[in-house]
Amino acid sequence: MKVYRTIKEIQDNIKRYQKNFPEGSIAIVPTMGFLHRGHCELIREAKKSSDIVVVTIFVNKLQFNDASDFTNYPTDESGDLKKCEEEGVDMVFSPSAEEIYGNSDPLIRITILELTRNLCGKYRPGHFEGVLAIIIKFFNIINPDKAFFGKKDYQQYLIIKKMTEEFHFPVFITGVPTIREDDGLAMSSRNARLSGKARVQAALIHRALRIVEKSFREGRSDPRELTEIGKDVIESGSLNKVEYFEIVDSVTLQLIDSEKDLVQEENLIAATAVFCDGIRLIDNIEIHSK
Ligand code: PAF
Repeated sequence: MKVYRTIKEIQDNIKRYQKNFPEGSIAIVPTMGFLHRGHCELIREAKKSSDIVVVTIFVNKLQFNDASDFTNYPTDESGDLKKCEEEGVDMVFSPSAEEIYGNSDPLIRITILELTRNLCGKYRPGHFEGVLAIIIKFFNIINPDKAFFGKKDYQQYLIIKKMTEEFHFPVFITGVPTIREDDGLAMSSRNARLSGKARVQAALIHRALRIVEKSFREGRSDPRELTEIGKDVIESGSLNKVEYFEIVDSVTLQLIDSEKDLVQEENLIAATAVFCDGIRLIDNIEIHSK
C-alpha cells in the first residue's frame, strides 16, 4: 500500500496504473479518517467490484459549519493506515489542507437548488456545498470509475449521486448500508467522543427509528404523530436533544407532512439528527407500509 501526500504524486501514480492496466477499474472511498467498521465495509464493497481501491483521508474544513466541530474532529492517521493496510487498500491519499486548498479558501462553490431544504441541509448551511467542493476535487485528481459512500449520510449520498449525474462525471456512485454497533448505534467517527452515559443513550436513536418504522407498518399514518413518537423515544434519554426528526421522500427528500402523502408514497425514509451530550449524531431508516 502506498501513501501519497501531494496531488502530483497520486496523479502520476494513477496515470501510470491506467497506462499499464488500461482495463483496470479504480474505486475511491472518500473519508475524513478515524476509520471504523463502517469505513472498512465501504472498502470491502469497493474491493469486490474494482481492481484497485484508493482511500482518501482528509478532514475537509469547508464542510464544517461549526468551527468547534472541526477542531474537535478525531484523527488517528497511523491507526487509519493500519486499517487500510489490513483491508488491502492499494493507495491512500492523505494530503494537507494547504495541498488541497492552497493558502486561502476556494472562491467557487456549486449551488444546490433542491435536496437541501430538509434534514441536515436545513440545519447545516453550506455543509453540502463544502462536501461537493472536495468530492469534485477528488474525482478530478483521482479519476475513479466508482465511488463508495455510507447510507448513514443518506442526504450526502443522494446529493453526490445527483451532482455526479448532472455534471457527467463518469463515476458510478454506490451507497452502502449502515454498519451498526450491537445495540443499533450507527457507526460514526463521532461516537468516539461520547462519554459512557451518552454512549448508552445514543442507542435510543436507532431504537426510535425502528419504533417509528414498526408503528407505520402497523397502521399509524399521521406523520406528525410518528415524528413525535420518534422524538419522545430519543429524548427519554436526558442527554439527548433532537435537532430534527423528519419523514421524507427518499428520492426528492421532500417533507412528508400529510397522512395522504404518507400512505401514497412508496419510497420513504425517517431520518434524525440528535445532539447526544452535545455530539451531533445522525441516522435514518427506510419505512414501508407493507
Ligand atoms: O462522509 C464523509 O466522511 C465526508 O463528508 C466525505 C464524503 C469524506 C467528504 O469530506
